[in-house]
Amino acid sequence: SCLSMPTLTRRAFLASAAAASASAVLPLHTRPSAAGIREFRLRAGPGRAQIAPEPYGQTAVWSYNDAVPGPEIRVRQGERVGIAVENALDEETTVHWHGVRVPNAMDGVPHLTQVPIAPGETFTYQFDGVDAGTFWYHPHQRSFEQVGRGLYGPLIVEEADPIQVDRDVTWVLSDWRLTNSAEMREDFGGRHDMMHNGRVGNTVTINGRVPDAFPVKKGERIRLRLINAANARIFGLEFRGHEPIVIALDGQPVAPHAPEGGMVVLGPAMRADLILDMTGDTGSRVTVTDRFYTGLEYRLVDLAYEKQPLRDKAPDWPLALPPNPLLEPDLAKAARHEVTFNGGMMGAMVMQEMAGSMGAEPSGRMGDMMGNMGSMMDMMHSGKIWFINGVAAQGHVMDPMLILEKDRSHVLAMTNATAWHHPMHLHGHSFRVISRNGEPTPHREWQDTVLMAPRERVEIAFVADNPGDWMFHCHVLEHQAAGMMGVIRVA
Ligand code: C2O
Ligand code: CU
Repeated sequence: SCLSMPTLTRRAFLASAAAASASAVLPLHTRPSAAGIREFRLRAGPGRAQIAPEPYGQTAVWSYNDAVPGPEIRVRQGERVGIAVENALDEETTVHWHGVRVPNAMDGVPHLTQVPIAPGETFTYQFDGVDAGTFWYHPHQRSFEQVGRGLYGPLIVEEADPIQVDRDVTWVLSDWRLTNSAEMREDFGGRHDMMHNGRVGNTVTINGRVPDAFPVKKGERIRLRLINAANARIFGLEFRGHEPIVIALDGQPVAPHAPEGGMVVLGPAMRADLILDMTGDTGSRVTVTDRFYTGLEYRLVDLAYEKQPLRDKAPDWPLALPPNPLLEPDLAKAARHEVTFNGGMMGAMVMQEMAGSMGAEPSGRMGDMMGNMGSMMDMMHSGKIWFINGVAAQGHVMDPMLILEKDRSHVLAMTNATAWHHPMHLHGHSFRVISRNGEPTPHREWQDTVLMAPRERVEIAFVADNPGDWMFHCHVLEHQAAGMMGVIRVA
């Protein structure tokens, strides 16, 4: 599946790959159509990319427009976007516009919202940039392999009146599982990954490269848009000797604040917009490390101060982003729905322990599940590993697990009864994260993906204002493939 490119294309490609190493995502050229629609083209197909640092060679990937990540789609809030997606893979695909509140038919979920795009065919998506913010796109067909091989890209909707910064920078974070000769490990969808953390890689990239340094200037203000496009890796980023300010999460503005414990935690699919005021000494470096997994420390890149300062001290321009048009959920009148996640390795143990802490005899739903433990073990062997409210979905899910009354406020009270982290994603809506383990959250942040720690309870609230059948799933793509998904109908 290697694409041998003609010399010229190849040179152009290498030049663009070099540009990516300076941590810029390629802009996607656009032309406004007669109808005032911003039009783009994406072509999903096999290609090669310089993922591992030289002297390693290129790696066979699947990519959009021959680039990993795919080109940055950048529009203004309120603009209408038309994106023609051509499928040059030899399997079906779709594109999901993660976090964008699109009409249901444009959501890119195969068999649920559209017929998948067959090899050789083109499908055109059309939607409005309703919310300003940092979003991304990726296939929703066999995503554990299609995303894992490199199909994803940033989608930026600019505020009509953006805050002032010196540089607006996008970092698409991902990781890869490569062999010693920098080829892709062909172990997608492995059972061990499905039952544990998912397919965590051994090579972390920023915009598809392993960069050494990212040049910055003293006094400069950078808006850094972070997107976690990895299948399974959770990032816990620290900027050594520097305190970033979080101004948006999952594209949605949040009251500007320092990250808790100095660490920016991003589960798969999550985004954070940071303000970096580069106030260090010229010639010094700020090392960006990932310390999410206890005992492991992964150096991502150094922010390296250039010799010439931009200005003496940080600018005092305002930090807060204008709000997006989201409806405020009415908690007093909200309908409440319990959602429980089970399964995975040690799932049975956790269930036993929980049942124990609930009293001698587990009853109700928990009791039923305990009774079903034997059959659950059987299901694990058939690839049903993760359960939402007792159901492990496989193949194409159509029957809704929940039906939400349209235009009403809803609270999902979610319990992670597993021993693993899960970034839970709801399509078509953003929700407020209102509590964790019974404690109100300090920022009541709007998210589309919420990372749940083992055994954690999280409540989210939103107005179900977008009609249709929406996927609700874990964004560890191996967990999703092994049952951790369902459909939520808004009607
Ligand atoms: Cu980012 Cu259902 O996906
Ligand atoms: Cu999960």
